Amino acid sequence: PAGAPSGPPAEPPAGDPAPDLFTWEFAADPYPAYAWLREHAPVRWTKLPSGVDAWLVTRYADAKQALADQRLSKNPAHHAETAQAKGKTGIPGERKADLMTHLLNIDPPDHTRLRRLVSKAFTPRRVAEFAGRVQELTDDLIDRFAEKGSADLIHEFAFPLPIYAICDLLGVPREDQDDFRDWAGMMIRHGGGPRGGVARSVKKMRGYLADLIHRKRQALPAEPAPGEDLISALIRASDHGEHLTENEAAAMAFILLFAGFETTVNLIGNGTYALLTHPGERRRLELSLAAGETGLLQTGVEELLRYDGPVELATWRYATEPLTIGGQDIAAGDPVLVVLAAADRDPERFADPDLLDLGRRDNQHLGYGHGIHYCVGAPLARLEGQTALATLLTRLPDLALAADPAELRWRGGLIMRGLRTLPVEFTPVGPSRE
Ligand code: HEM
Repeated sequence: PAGAPSGPPAEPPAGDPAPDLFTWEFAADPYPAYAWLREHAPVRWTKLPSGVDAWLVTRYADAKQALADQRLSKNPAHHAETAQAKGKTGIPGERKADLMTHLLNIDPPDHTRLRRLVSKAFTPRRVAEFAGRVQELTDDLIDRFAEKGSADLIHEFAFPLPIYAICDLLGVPREDQDDFRDWAGMMIRHGGGPRGGVARSVKKMRGYLADLIHRKRQALPAEPAPGEDLISALIRASDHGEHLTENEAAAMAFILLFAGFETTVNLIGNGTYALLTHPGERRRLELSLAAGETGLLQTGVEELLRYDGPVELATWRYATEPLTIGGQDIAAGDPVLVVLAAADRDPERFADPDLLDLGRRDNQHLGYGHGIHYCVGAPLARLEGQTALATLLTRLPDLALAADPAELRWRGGLIMRGLRTLPVEFTPVGPSRE
């Protein structure tokens, strides 16, 4: 609108050759459009499906710089429109007691304090100790469809695995985990759609988590017991004598669930799909697994994240002052979206970027972000991704797509990239254990 505080005109110039973004065709294969943007308009003012305008950053070098640039705030109060509406009130250091005051919506120093506390509880060691449980969950889910000879791998496998895993890790009792499955299902199905159901699910989850945290705090023993759950460890964590408040612990549990759920669904979904459509690479991985090696599985999951990762665009950032990215001036208050999926196919950074090479060595992809907001859950995501893919390939050796790839539908969400369904078929097999 005229007099808007930010950005050049939202409408592209007449005869603009830029590809259409956010269409169904784009959702099925956004990579040619991203190649065009990287080449011709690497930092481009773009109208999003919601009607909001934002800068899309598509080159690797610019993306990496923007992700680490502290002049780009995560606090939505810095968005020019929001700030204008609020008369710029409530920006610095305001501590709202709600679930949305979480790591991905805050800046230092609050972010630094909360991140330090979560790092003390959510350690690589805790994740490593969880490996056996992830294997068990994976086998149990495969058992449920193994004798059928067919499945929808999104609904029957990729979707339930991460939600049960994170619930177990947090310490949500088993009998309540199906409620989480339902709430999470509502959020994933209607993420960008009708708000009513999502809002109700978030409200229920908030109430449940607040109550669970309160009960766990009351019952917390003086010394940590072996195998103590993550919520108890979060309550216990202290930094220079400071602890999380109950509200902060609830917001932390919520963002761990929320950030760790749909992402991992899509890692498993997109990853399996890529393997099923690249038989040479799949065979290579199968041979390596059969030889008892894990090296190719590890580099392979990283490559699947680079090649077709779950997070298409990093979460929102807002300029707190005028700055320049890739030679483009950005005004204070402008939203900036870093397109991880475009950066990770940048030929300036990756040799043969459109090639899936499970053994790729020099693979500093941005799939988990970069800088202070780098994914807290990366070790857990790697564990789940590696376990899920290795177990599927090993237990169902003739697993095959049961649909024409052109018929598969991708979710049209803005931040995430993932399949709605992944129909597969295979020779039926028995359960993993009697
Ligand atoms: C942050 C990707 C799994 C928890 C991020 C960011 C990315 C990302 C790109 C940074 C976003 C930004 O800077 O705007 C992924 C991918 C995953 C995954 C691709 C799976 C393959 C998980 C899991 C958890 C988790 C399993 C937790 C259980 C978080 C949290 C943050 C985060 C809490 C915010 C960190 C901060 O702001 O300091 N993730 N993630 N993620 N992720 Fe993940």
